[in-house]
Amino acid sequence: MLVLGIESSCDETGVALYEHVTGRRDYRAGLLAQALHSQIGMHAEYGGVVPELASRDHIRRVLPLARQALADAARTLGQVDGIAFTQGPGLAGALLVGASVATALGFALRVPVVGVHHLEGHLLSPLLADDPPDFPFVALLVSGGHTQLMRVSGLGEYALLGETMDDAAGEAFDKTAQLLGLGYPGGPALAALAAGGEPGRLRLPRPLLGGGGLDFSFSGLKTAVSLASRSEAAHATADIAAEFQEAVVDVLVAKALAACAASDLDTLVVAGGVGANQRLRERLSAAAGATGIRVHYPEAALCTDNGAMIAFAGALRLASSSAGDYGFSVRPRWDLESLTAP
Ligand code: KG4
Ligand code: ZN
Repeated sequence: MLVLGIESSCDETGVALYEHVTGRRDYRAGLLAQALHSQIGMHAEYGGVVPELASRDHIRRVLPLARQALADAARTLGQVDGIAFTQGPGLAGALLVGASVATALGFALRVPVVGVHHLEGHLLSPLLADDPPDFPFVALLVSGGHTQLMRVSGLGEYALLGETMDDAAGEAFDKTAQLLGLGYPGGPALAALAAGGEPGRLRLPRPLLGGGGLDFSFSGLKTAVSLASRSEAAHATADIAAEFQEAVVDVLVAKALAACAASDLDTLVVAGGVGANQRLRERLSAAAGATGIRVHYPEAALCTDNGAMIAFAGALRLASSSAGDYGFSVRPRWDLESLTAP
């Protein structure tokens, strides 16, 4: 079954072709092609994602990217057996671009269309790496919008073990980077700066490290960074970045291992943009190795938003479900009862 997947939830337009073969465990072999356009350059001058610009750019990019993916895979649109798109969560206008293009294509081709949850895409992306993990496993999901620990028993079987009570880990990286004058998106820039600094020269808090169960809290860290960067001690920004990164990594590592222990599982999967962080990978692999836990990461290019994870998750779902109609929705929230007469 050949599935075309479209991701357009935020600031990346991603299209991929995934060929599902029932019973094949080498999932990666099914990824025939993927094409991606990042809007980062466009949003950078505003210091963050501008939703209307994002939507318009998705419109410009999505069909050329689909043509490119088809050409790279040496397939034609007529060979596609199903379409997957990111249905949410994300920016409403941006999601609508993927949803409407996917549904129109599905209708024209008379093939089934499936809406995929963006985080399910992230969660399953480590299955596209060499030596994929087997269910059940614990997933540490660390993106710009979410920080969650899940128990994953199978496709669509997700139990929340813990999550952030305020900022997501990626959001903390982005906001701290902004405080340090590093621009948007801050995660990779802050990590690069941290590599030249030394953690521990100043001391930042490790929020909820000793408590809070499996929940996280990162919003206090940016305040601590703000104080540190204005303090008379005049810390080098590289040292502040290194200590910030170490603080986040300390908490993520401790809670991820605690989640494995609490669920009696020895397989851990890391997904989402912050999963690209090199320091997190080093520290997590070392700590997990010492306790007999195996950690699986997506390859770096599949940590951040992409079409491959959506095509893959959609293919798994289409392979085990019957087709619906061609109605579609994204989930913007607007309560009709809140309107008042002019
Ligand atoms: O998963 P993702 O691409 O988009 C969302 O669904 O949110 O994650 C983006 C987040 C951003 O906050 C970005 O700063 C962060 O991932 N990020 C990183 C790194 N690469 C991306 N954070 C820390 N270190 C990195 N190397
Ligand atoms: Zn994402």
